[in-house]
Amino acid sequence: MTITYEGNTLSSYIDAVEYERLLPAVRAYHEAMVLKTRDARYLGWLDVVEMEDVLEDVQKIAQMLQASTDVLVVIGIGGSYLGARAALDALSLELARSANGLTVEFIGHHMSAWEMARLMQRIKGRRFSINVISKSGTTTEPAIAFRLLKDLLMAEVGAEEAKKRIIVTTDPEHGALRTMAAKEGYLSLAIPPEVGGRFSVLTPVGLLPLAAAGVDIRAMIEGARTMKAHFFEAKDDLADRYRYAMSRAILYQKGYVVELFASFEPYLSGIGDWLVQLFAESEGKNQRGILPVRTQYTTDLHSLGQYVQEGRRMLFETMLWVEEAGVALMVPSTPENLDGLKYLEGQPLHAIQREAMRGVMLAHHDGGVPVSRVVIPKLDAYHLGALFMFFELSVAMSGQLFGIHPFNQPGVEAYKENMFALLGKPGYDEKREELLQRLRSFVGEGYRL
Ligand code: PA5
Repeated sequence: MTITYEGNTLSSYIDAVEYERLLPAVRAYHEAMVLKTRDARYLGWLDVVEMEDVLEDVQKIAQMLQASTDVLVVIGIGGSYLGARAALDALSLELARSANGLTVEFIGHHMSAWEMARLMQRIKGRRFSINVISKSGTTTEPAIAFRLLKDLLMAEVGAEEAKKRIIVTTDPEHGALRTMAAKEGYLSLAIPPEVGGRFSVLTPVGLLPLAAAGVDIRAMIEGARTMKAHFFEAKDDLADRYRYAMSRAILYQKGYVVELFASFEPYLSGIGDWLVQLFAESEGKNQRGILPVRTQYTTDLHSLGQYVQEGRRMLFETMLWVEEAGVALMVPSTPENLDGLKYLEGQPLHAIQREAMRGVMLAHHDGGVPVSRVVIPKLDAYHLGALFMFFELSVAMSGQLFGIHPFNQPGVEAYKENMFALLGKPGYDEKREELLQRLRSFVGEGYRL
């Protein structure tokens, strides 16, 4: 059993003929992906399911970490941490049952001194190692975090021992981190050049932190491999495999420009963040694209819910639903019925949640929100691997259907350029002067920005 997409609930929004119209484009790009006749330099994430040597290297380092470390501090931003964090959240139940004693902390994805100070406090005096992850090897946030934590590590265990506790995951040849790893003799893992950050969860970027935390990464890769085969071996079923990608493209044309990724489990919120990055960075270009938003039900039904039900009609909703409860917990009986919950006594929480989900789907549908579901039979490493691959294949296809290049992210540079100039990075002098002048008129006289 694998991940399934249930798009039949969209039938009052999308005609069968609209899917048929898209099929030639779907078929063409599908074949291009299978044969790598287009975008080959960006499609390396399709091959990660065949890298036995990488799995071995990762597992060796993970075992070493498990033996020597209480806390693995993962430094990275964007695609360099969101996948691992999502998987660890999603598998938290499984991991709690098989706890191996190593915990993972994520840092380097913001510039908050407070967060950094709190982390340093938490790890001080404990056996910690660092996995610094950056494909470019030059991203500012993780670079600053690495400096600070390397200093702490050296202060705690000395320079030589610190070197043994640093693992670098970066481009195989280029960038400051690769140079540093070679010079200092750090252990290192390579991110395949043909895999972009947000597609890198199944490379050493995600695999090392996950393996160190005790996740069965072989099962995860097996799940991804099965999902890839499910897509790639489909001949006459392409309409079924890419239904989700096609639905998004059709809904977008009809003015549904915001996609809510809704889950009923808090432990899926990391997956929601991973999806937001995957879709926003892949599709938000040329003044186009669907805005992805993560929602957490049922809590957000008491905040965003009003808007979803009755606000401006531009939303569609993709629900992430996990079939298996994972934990059996029931509503207890009481002799009296003061809270009016007698009718729920003895019912498992998951069964109640299921009715909430069904009720929400119908209510939102009736309110004019196209709703569909991605159903995950059970949350384990295997199905998570399949889920990652499903969404990566879907975003690659839907980018094509939008006429957008889904594998770059030129827009992310704009803030960086300004920040470098304002911080006085060498080479940015002229830009700094220009920005300072513009800031003065931007905020107006008498204000500080
Ligand atoms: O998807 C992407 O490419 C980005 O989100 C990157 O992962 C992010 O910007 C971090 O880049 P790097 O790994 O080079 O530090």
